[in-house]
Amino acid sequence: MTNLKNKIAIILILTFSFTLVITSCGVRNNTSLEEDDTDLIVVGFSQPGAESAWRVALTDSVRESFIEDKGYKLIYKDAQSKQDNQIRDIRTFIQQGVDYIVISPIVETGWDTVLSEAKAADIPVIICDRNVVVSNESLYKAFVGSDFSAEGDAAISLIEKKFAGNENEEPTGVNIVHIQGTLGSSAQIGRSKALERALEKHDNWNVVYEDCGDFTKAKAREIMTAALQEIGSDNIDLVYCENDEEAFGAMAAMNEAGVSYGEDNPIKVVSFDATNTALVMCLNGQISAEIECNPLQGPYIFKLISHLQKGEAVPKITYVHEKSFTKDNLSAKYIEERKY
Ligand code: AHR
Repeated sequence: MTNLKNKIAIILILTFSFTLVITSCGVRNNTSLEEDDTDLIVVGFSQPGAESAWRVALTDSVRESFIEDKGYKLIYKDAQSKQDNQIRDIRTFIQQGVDYIVISPIVETGWDTVLSEAKAADIPVIICDRNVVVSNESLYKAFVGSDFSAEGDAAISLIEKKFAGNENEEPTGVNIVHIQGTLGSSAQIGRSKALERALEKHDNWNVVYEDCGDFTKAKAREIMTAALQEIGSDNIDLVYCENDEEAFGAMAAMNEAGVSYGEDNPIKVVSFDATNTALVMCLNGQISAEIECNPLQGPYIFKLISHLQKGEAVPKITYVHEKSFTKDNLSAKYIEERKY
């Protein structure tokens, strides 16, 4: 009997100890997971969409910069080309209590309320790629991205060189199909305004067809098809595309319609981004000028956040380095070595 009692006691003790070990292991695992997370600096990154190869390159650059090995956790959200979604994503970051919010804003306006909410939650915001127009600049810490106005001016100066002969010798001037980017985005505003300034300067430059391609190949293809039908290819000298996807769409429409374009033809194509695919087309003469829009912004944003982590001041505006290309300053080797 005593033996039986002893056995039962031993079984009970073992069962209790086993339960304790299991329970405490569970608690420790949960604790360590949470501890792991709290050790990392959490960055919420809100992208407007994935409308172009350029934007995918920007996402990759930010993802590669904020990795766990460097002490960061990146939460990425794609707003599917809608500002409302982007605002909702930013609110989610605020609720999650992230340490920093990085936003590439789809358009410039409409951010005051949500940025005030981030400020009230004491979460520093970095604006990247495109800029915002807000009532109070203290709503965000810093902007890093492109100078779209300078990009537009660079395109215009290359067009002026290309058509300089025409202006003196050709009284009919330069007829332009203008395919705009997403209306209200900094990229569209800067590039379109540069063209508007050029139109004021050159009496013989005319926009003969204009529509918004939303930075996509599909919409630009439709626009160019309509332009060719309404205006006729003989009345077009230049297609001013506000990004490479739009240039690809415009060229697809011209191919379909059997219309020639490029360096040895009457219709010239000018585009922004300078992705590798477009630079190859620039080198072989299909595109006459490419203005770079640099998507490799991750390291710039990383540097800003590292400074903020140390409590250091950061510049309000940082423009990324960008160049312009024609076939004269391009080579196959150069394009091959580029990252995007
Ligand atoms: O804001 C940058 C622009 O947005 C790029 O030119 C374009 O490709 C992207 O969609």
